[in-house]
Amino acid sequence: MPTAFSRCLAAAALALTVLGGLAADALAQTRPTAPLVIGHRGACGHRPEHTLASYELAIDMGADFIEPDLVATKDGVLIARHENDISGTTDVAAKFPERKAKKTIDGAAIEGFFTEDFTLAEIKTLLARERLDFRDHSRDGQFTVPTLEEVIALVKRKEAETGRIIGIYPETKHPTYFRSLNLPLEGRLVEILHKNGYDKADSPVFIQSFEIQNLKDLRQMTKVPLVFLYDEPDLRPYDFVAAGDARTYADLLAPGELAEIARFAQGIGPWKRLLITENPDKTLAAPNTVVADAHAAGLTVHPYTFRNEARYLAPDYAGDPIKEYLQFYELGVDGVFSDFPDAAVAAREVFLKARN
Ligand code: G3P
Ligand code: CA
Repeated sequence: MPTAFSRCLAAAALALTVLGGLAADALAQTRPTAPLVIGHRGACGHRPEHTLASYELAIDMGADFIEPDLVATKDGVLIARHENDISGTTDVAAKFPERKAKKTIDGAAIEGFFTEDFTLAEIKTLLARERLDFRDHSRDGQFTVPTLEEVIALVKRKEAETGRIIGIYPETKHPTYFRSLNLPLEGRLVEILHKNGYDKADSPVFIQSFEIQNLKDLRQMTKVPLVFLYDEPDLRPYDFVAAGDARTYADLLAPGELAEIARFAQGIGPWKRLLITENPDKTLAAPNTVVADAHAAGLTVHPYTFRNEARYLAPDYAGDPIKEYLQFYELGVDGVFSDFPDAAVAAREVFLKARN
């Protein structure tokens, strides 16, 4: 049995190999030698999402990258939250009941508590809670909401402690919406990344977005790799909705569209059911050609989101999340967003052992 320490060393060596391979080939053009493990919202299967505790655990579990989703405060500070409505992930309703508001975000009417109505000082009085009822709530009320700069400081500290390179995979959330509030995310993000040395095509960073236009804008602002995220097939990027462009995410998977995306981005982050679709009985169809098509266009492929719980697993996997990872690794994806980086790393060890 390997000890926790030897497993940690093996994971560290693997991460260095993965990222070393990326740097050597100029990340903008490359695919890693082994699939990257991206700690989705940290290790949010184990800790409340988007807290420093969640990110640190993901790193300790061997994740190569950690993924902060980013929204802005009233005073323009980037903080890590999946949504600007923080009702479900903090104790905001108890502390600021009078701030409840109704807003329309990307065309959807939402009632909640919104980051753009709070200063950073106010946000810092809140405590995070687990979002999902069926996950562990024993750490509710223990952690604050981190800023992007605090996430980067954690990464630098963990790099110094472990000798590993740990990547950052920030997502601009609702970019059209925040621009409409005069709180655009892009300049703030690039300024912080560049200030911290993340300014090259091979920096260990991917900036991701579900919108196209802000990625094109970012391309003019920074050299770091960019990733276009794909939502469900019938939906449209919200910047397309705002501009009257009828193309759906499904349309944007066509080889010609992938070639266009490759002009400004280095990768795609598709919902995993866009690569292996579901039959009416919930079993899985044979994998389609999206991974091969994206690779042919020069794009790396990082599908989301991999989760251990049976409720998220197709019947094909018989309740075993490792089988799901292995299917996607064998399909040739370049990384996975996982709520459980420990499982993604364990599956990668099985995959690499079988391959070599
Ligand atoms: O960014 C990849 C994945 O996180 C996209 O989905 O909704 O969890 O941000 P979401
Ligand atoms: Ca995300």
